[in-house]
Formats: sequence, C-alpha cells, structure tokens
Amino acid sequence: MRNPFQYGGVVSGESFCNRTKETVDLRRSVENAEKLFVYSERRLGKTSLIRKVLAELPEEEYLTVYIDLWPTDGETSFVLTCAKAFSEAMATTTDKLLFTAKAFFSRLIPSVSANENGKPVVTFGFDKRRPDVPLLEEVLAMPAKAAEKEGKKVVIVMDEFQQILEYESDTVERLLRSNIQHQPDMAYIFCGSRKHLIRQMFMDSQRPMYRSGAHYPLGLIAEDHWQTFIAGKFAETGKSISPEVITAICELTEGHPFYTQHLCHPLWELCETGGEVGKDMIEQAKDLLLERESYAFMNLWDSLTINARRLLKGVAAEGAGTQVFSADFVRKYQLGSSSNAQRAVDLLLKKDIIDKEESGIVIPDRFFRLWIISKQGQ
Ligand SMILES: Nc1ncnc2c1ncn2[C@@H]1O[C@H](COP(=O)(O)OP(=O)(O)O)[C@@H](O)[C@H]1O
Ligand SMILES: [Mg+2]
Repeated sequence: MRNPFQYGGVVSGESFCNRTKETVDLRRSVENAEKLFVYSERRLGKTSLIRKVLAELPEEEYLTVYIDLWPTDGETSFVLTCAKAFSEAMATTTDKLLFTAKAFFSRLIPSVSANENGKPVVTFGFDKRRPDVPLLEEVLAMPAKAAEKEGKKVVIVMDEFQQILEYESDTVERLLRSNIQHQPDMAYIFCGSRKHLIRQMFMDSQRPMYRSGAHYPLGLIAEDHWQTFIAGKFAETGKSISPEVITAICELTEGHPFYTQHLCHPLWELCETGGEVGKDMIEQAKDLLLERESYAFMNLWDSLTINARRLLKGVAAEGAGTQVFSADFVRKYQLGSSSNAQRAVDLLLKKDIIDKEESGIVIPDRFFRLWIISKQGQ
C-alpha cells in the first residue's frame, strides 16, 4: 500500500490539508488584481497553495502564468523563463505554441518539443540578427498583450522571487516595478522563501519594489486541521492513531506542513496494517528520519567553516531568541569574536541554512536542528 504522506513536491487534492482561509484570501487578491507578496520560510506550502488557487480559477475567465524564478541567475535567464511560461500558458498545441512564441517575442527563436506527458514545451534561443529589440521590455509587456489577445484577465505568479536579488543589476526589479504600476488590471503574486530578503524588498525604501504591493506572510497549519488530516490518512489505510499522538507530532513539528508530512511518513511505515500508532513510535520515526537524512546533513555540515558549525551548534542548542553576537554566546561557542560570528551568520544566511526572525536567528529545518543537537558532544 502506498504511503499516504507526501513530502517534497507540490501537494494537491487529497494530500492538501486545509488552508481554507488562505485560499479565500489569495482568490480575493487575484479577483481584485492586487500585487501581493506571499512569503514564508521554505517548504511551508506556498507553491502548493498558489497552484491550488490558480487551478481553481475559471479557465474561461483567467489566463494564469506561473513562473518559477528559482533557476534564473540574471536578466537573460529571467527573460527566457518568462517567455517560456507565457507561451506555454497561452498555447496548448504545438502549432499554437510556435505561433504564439514567434508572434510575441521578436528576438527569440522558439523550438518546440513534447515532454514526457506529451504536452508541448518550448525552448528559446536568441536571434542574433536582431540585437536592437529590448528583450526585457518585450517580456514585461506580455501580460497586457496576452490579456488583449485572449480576452481574459491575467494572473502572474513569480515564485522564488527573492532570486532576482542575485542578479548582477537591479534592472529587472526596477522595470518590473514601473510595469506593474501601470497595470491596474493584472494580478501579480510574488512569492518567496527567504523571509528576510522578501521583507527587505518591499519594506526598504531604497529598493525598487518598495511598497509596490501588499504583503501576506503564510503561517503554519493549526493542530485542529492536522488532527482531521492525519487521522483520516491512517484510517483510510487501515491503521489508527489517537488524538494524543497527533498532538505530540504537532508539538515536535510545530504544525509545519513539510516536517509534519515528513515525520508522518516513517510513522505510517512503522505501524502495521490493522495496528495503532503508539506514542513511543514518534521517537522511532524521528530516529529513522534522521538516519535517512544523515547523509545529506553530513554533506552540508562538511561544507561549512568551523565557525559556522560552532554558531549552528549554539543556535540549535539555545533555541529561539539566541543573541549570537553577545559576549556570552561568542565565548560559550568558541567563536573568538563577534566579527567571526557575523561572518558565520552571513555565510549561513547566504546558504539559506539560517533565517532572521524578529526574535533572532533560527534554523528553519527542524530536523537539521535535531540532527545537530544529536551530534552535540561528539
Ligand atoms: N496544505 C498542505 N497540506 C499538507 N501538506 C502540505 C501543504 N502544503 C505544503 N505541504 C507539505 O510541504 C511540502 C512543501 O510544500 P511546497 O508547496 O513546495 O512549499 P514551499 O513552496 O513553501 O517551499 C509538500 O511537499 C508537503 O509535504
Ligand atoms: Mg515553493
């Protein structure tokens, strides 16, 4: 029997727990053609939620364009990624895709192939004979053109939006801002995983996207919803679990969607068909999970500087609200000086291993934190 707990990719349908209020909020934002920044730590369910909201919009009324900026590293890949997303959103057949791609992007040469599901996908190359057309402008003008051509409202989602901070210049950010200001009828959702970066983007008056939209921090899923969801999944597969055990799971994962599903996965395995999950199995499931992840955790650990490891050990042990630059902390974790601590923090932020909260530095990966604690003293 298939394990009913899924973690890693986008979840939908039966694997999607609650988010009723968030779904309504985002739907309303789209209907009002707002510009919205949705942010949370990694793996909290942003992509799954937004995909669900997009999928539920009536097709005859909305053209939805989902753009994942994760693989982009500069203006060129931004342009190519957007062009691809727009073309594929507007065309479902190979012929139509080629036609759309050619009609809309004068300097890009499309070639179309089919993916493993037989759906046409497009890749673009540059037409070097026409270097004078400003590509970025052309791509950013797409929403308006698409709306006109399709006679639909347009919703644009840019996922992993913080990626544009990695680009060499802020041209994309600036042009995007001036574009969205002049597009009162288009809904935009900018979605990001690195909270401190996304917040900085719309709250720092020095940045181009400053106050260019409303913001929507996505939160954890409350225990009530997990109670129904988890109990349901066990029951459907001929196993049972008590509310007390589910409470204990939520205490460990804080109701974080990814970690909750990740922990339930081995827990379900440990319980035999027809059986009931005992409270002691949570500990076993956690150990199993840490053991399975240990190779990846070890590699990550090995890639860090000695001070970064010391700082992580400290943050893992002391928990939320740790003052990592304080003399006490620096001494206790042998960092030598607060500037060493600063360098370690910079490195770990860049590598996305820690994040800055109002309360201080945190390690978002709950299990990596537990793994670090389990290594303590070794
Ligand atoms: N609404 C949800 N219900 C159940 N599990 C969820 C939900 N949202 C996210 N998850 C879990 O979290 C994982 C990561 O979700 P994802 O949407 O990719 O997050 P993000 O885009 O914030 O990184 C999923 O694979 C799934 O295990
Ligand atoms: Mg995502």
